[in-house]
Amino acid sequence: MKNELVLVDTQIRPGVALLRLNRPKELNALNLQLMAELRDALAILDKDENVRAMVLTGNEKAFAAGADIHQMSGKGAIDMLLIDQFATWEQIRRLKKPLIAAVSGFVLGGGNELVMHCDLVVASETARFGQPEILLGIMPGAGGTQRLTRQIGKVNAMEMVLTGQPVSAKQALAWGLVNRVVPVEVYLDEALRLASEIALRAPLAVRLAKESVLKAQDSNLSEGLEFERKNFYMLFASADQKEGMDAFVNKRPPQFTGS
Ligand code: HXC
Repeated sequence: MKNELVLVDTQIRPGVALLRLNRPKELNALNLQLMAELRDALAILDKDENVRAMVLTGNEKAFAAGADIHQMSGKGAIDMLLIDQFATWEQIRRLKKPLIAAVSGFVLGGGNELVMHCDLVVASETARFGQPEILLGIMPGAGGTQRLTRQIGKVNAMEMVLTGQPVSAKQALAWGLVNRVVPVEVYLDEALRLASEIALRAPLAVRLAKESVLKAQDSNLSEGLEFERKNFYMLFASADQKEGMDAFVNKRPPQFTGS
């Protein structure tokens, strides 16, 4: 498939790949082709050993204004079932490398749900987050009732999902939907800076730490602790554990290789 709705740059910073949603006229509405391109690009980068962290962005006006309403408007329930779009989202959920969202402007519906598939989120001061599906006579379908509730709590999720009204970046920060809010001129730089920082860390440790944090959203405490402990032990089989601890003991910076 020709990549045109998602632009990929692997040269932007060492160890970092940038993916840009590229349907600006439609406010980056997430149609099926865009989501397929995004899934495929992410899958390739996830396996590329030169890439250690990925940044997903849109443009200043819109990260994404949600799933493509034109594409959905004539569909019935069985059409939607057979299209099976959530298989694509499931693959994005299972990425092993850290994915950092850099968002500005409209972050709505599926756009907000896509952000919640990311591991860290940098927002511009102009970002507006919402789940407006209720205004279309539907409801969120890609985690907007489940992930959002776990992330910002029941009453805040209820407010967003039942009123459909967007919230400001400042409010999203207070609710724990984003890591930080910065001026619009620097939101992408800040996300790339974070990605570069993570790209210097031991890749196996990053991978298992990400998996472990995600497990916390998905398990009870005992299961989560057991999962964490096994991953912790496993890292003592890595060369990077020896390197990291030797570097500390000998007061030098570590050189991690991902082995
Ligand atoms: C398709 C969209 C779109 C969308 C905007 N556009 N959002 N097309 N799907 N979700 C298109 C418009 O049709 C228009 O194209 C162009 O983008 C600019 O949009 P305007 O409405 O003219 O811009 P503006 O007046 O600035 O309003 C911006 C907006 C509004 C407030 C974001 O566009 C809006 O309310 N969009 C819908 C947001 C939404 O309901 N999202 C949830 C979708 S459901 P034309 O060619 O007409 O000029 C969803 C379910 C997810 O996400 C389920 C899981 C996958």
